[in-house]
Amino acid sequence: MISSKDSNDIRVITLDNPPVNALSFALCAELLPVVEAAEKDDAVKAVIFTGANGIFSGGADVNDFTTEPTPETKTIRDVIAAVERGTKVFIAAIDGNALGGAFELSLACDYRVATRGSRLSFPEIQLGLIPGAGGTQRLPRLVDVQEALQVMLKAPRVPAEEALTKGILDEVVDGGVVEAAKALAQRSEGVKRRLSERRAILPKGVVPQALPFVVSQAHKMVPPEESGGFAAHKLIDAVEAAVTLPFAYGLARESRLFDELVRSKPSLALRHVFFAERTLNKIPGLAQAQARTVAKGGVVGGGTMGTGIAICFADAGIPVTVVEPIDEQVERAKQMIFGMYAHQVQRGRLTQEEAWKRGQSVEFTAEYGELADCDLVVEAVFESMDVKRDVFAKLDAVVKPSAMLATNTSTLDIDEIAAATKRSSQVLGMHFFAPANIMKLLEVVRGSATSLDAIGTAFAVGKSMRKVSVLSGNAFGFIGNRMLLDYVREALYMAEEGLPPYRIDAAMKSFGFPMGPFAMFDLSGIDVAWHIAQARPDLGAGRTKVLQRLVEMKRFGQKTGAGYYRYDKNVGGGREPIRDETIEALFAQEAQSAGIAQHPNVSDEEVVRRCVYALINAGAALLEEGIALRPGDIDIVWVYGYGFPPYRGGPMWYADDIGAKNVYESIVRFRKELGDRWEPAKLLQQELVHA
Ligand code: NAI
Repeated sequence: MISSKDSNDIRVITLDNPPVNALSFALCAELLPVVEAAEKDDAVKAVIFTGANGIFSGGADVNDFTTEPTPETKTIRDVIAAVERGTKVFIAAIDGNALGGAFELSLACDYRVATRGSRLSFPEIQLGLIPGAGGTQRLPRLVDVQEALQVMLKAPRVPAEEALTKGILDEVVDGGVVEAAKALAQRSEGVKRRLSERRAILPKGVVPQALPFVVSQAHKMVPPEESGGFAAHKLIDAVEAAVTLPFAYGLARESRLFDELVRSKPSLALRHVFFAERTLNKIPGLAQAQARTVAKGGVVGGGTMGTGIAICFADAGIPVTVVEPIDEQVERAKQMIFGMYAHQVQRGRLTQEEAWKRGQSVEFTAEYGELADCDLVVEAVFESMDVKRDVFAKLDAVVKPSAMLATNTSTLDIDEIAAATKRSSQVLGMHFFAPANIMKLLEVVRGSATSLDAIGTAFAVGKSMRKVSVLSGNAFGFIGNRMLLDYVREALYMAEEGLPPYRIDAAMKSFGFPMGPFAMFDLSGIDVAWHIAQARPDLGAGRTKVLQRLVEMKRFGQKTGAGYYRYDKNVGGGREPIRDETIEALFAQEAQSAGIAQHPNVSDEEVVRRCVYALINAGAALLEEGIALRPGDIDIVWVYGYGFPPYRGGPMWYADDIGAKNVYESIVRFRKELGDRWEPAKLLQQELVHA
């Protein structure tokens, strides 16, 4: 894992732990004696750290977080302490990424050189952690406190060129980083530059007395502790310590804060999400599947979803042909694509050339025949079984026999659609979320005849589109929307029982959802909800005629300026839900006609319990039925597709957090109080839902 080589009086230590040279406990146990030996060797004047495999290092090994270190365990903290004690000149020669602990190792060195295009980052905050090996103490001694906080709170990948301007790096070279580091070692003439011996840097114009103000401002800028800001506040505390305490004390404070965070619920939940995402493609038999190359894509239907899906193909570098018979719709789609790429160029995310190339790779036609040589066609026409079967029969007749045909249906039966073709093993669902080119989630839906090769291909295409793909069985609404229907059912029932929609939304927002169920209805469209309610009157419509009345009033949601809320283009650009008492009156009136008793005094906690336990119960049922493979898959669907707060780990992780049995007992109580719709899933009788 470690190799070292001397040239003259310089020792080059290479981290070599494929794929990303993770600084695992095992690697650190090897690295520490190598560093100590270099320090003891009189022939060595300077030590250079560098990485093999085209990367400096991806930082800590996340698997180690679950290993309780013993007194013998060596970590990157020990290696860094040895570097800190060292009397030789230490240089980090960075080629490729230096993340987390690796960035910290470089900060413990006296000098830092990197190749152009290398990137430095502290991603810890995304796992609910802070840099724990001196990063919070050393970075504010290299750049000012505010800058350091930005780098650690927002976790950008700082490009080498920018890091040089900020003073994080001493030199950026086009290539030959180790040679450049050797030259720097010679020039350094043995001069040490320990950051620990410097003072933290206050932002320009800030006098030391103003520090408490800067700190309190920083605390105000991040979410509250209980709403996803737990680690952020600890990070600010650590950086404050860098200013107010001597280095050694600051380091001790950082260690304490880090150790507290490693055990904290938000970090455990975020790490669960991290691992669950990496487990998604562990599907029985999939490793042996032959994913096909998709060199050309097709889309049928150039509406909202079809256009977004076409962009996904273009972004993945796959040329795509869209069949859309209506000229006006083609124009709208082209404008959407043009506008989106223009925006990306404007924001500096894409070059003009790249945007042009991607835009050019999307073609429109009215002829199905032009899809003949596609390897994968995704259908996104109206949500109607007749229309979809007709489209699939046409596709089956014209598209080459080896191609896969996918449907973006939200609710329809994949098997019934596949039966319109003679290639049902190559038919499956690829359920994108709106806006398709932005949302990361992709549900890959397996029909009863879908082959593993087809699933493997969908996962591979999803990966090239940078999606997070989750396998779902073929059930109404698949994983996400099936659970959503139970969730919104409870919200609707509570509104029918006299609780105003804005109160329900506020409770769910304070739980951590970006918006409540009623604002979400308004965003996705009341007409869409109505359409689903027609197909499944037992789900998603409530017990009253409120939804029907909204449709009659043409209150289709945000797009028509009214739904469950009012919208005013002068308030938040027409996107801000404004409480509408006429809707509350409508609920009251319709509830009276339906004979529904009013219970308006429900606490926020009870609102959350009813909505979230409905989700959990539905998720447990999907596991029992085998529609979802693992609880973690469900968590990913909800975190990436519906904004479930990631620091709560997803609905099934949350169930384990409060105790699956406790959820079960609450559901039993709900059944007694609220009716038979609350049938507790047996799985919840287990101690834990997650194995
Ligand atoms: P849309 O109404 O915006 O677009 C449908 C497009 O298909 C229209 O442009 C129409 O002209 C075209 N079309 C209809 N029949 C066609 C045919 N036979 N051949 C070629 N083109 C045809 O609908 P949207 O919202 O894009 O939905 C499409 C599908 O995606 C539906 O199955 C829907 O359930 C699903 N979906 C929608 C989501 C959403 O949030 N809108 C999210 C996920 C899935």
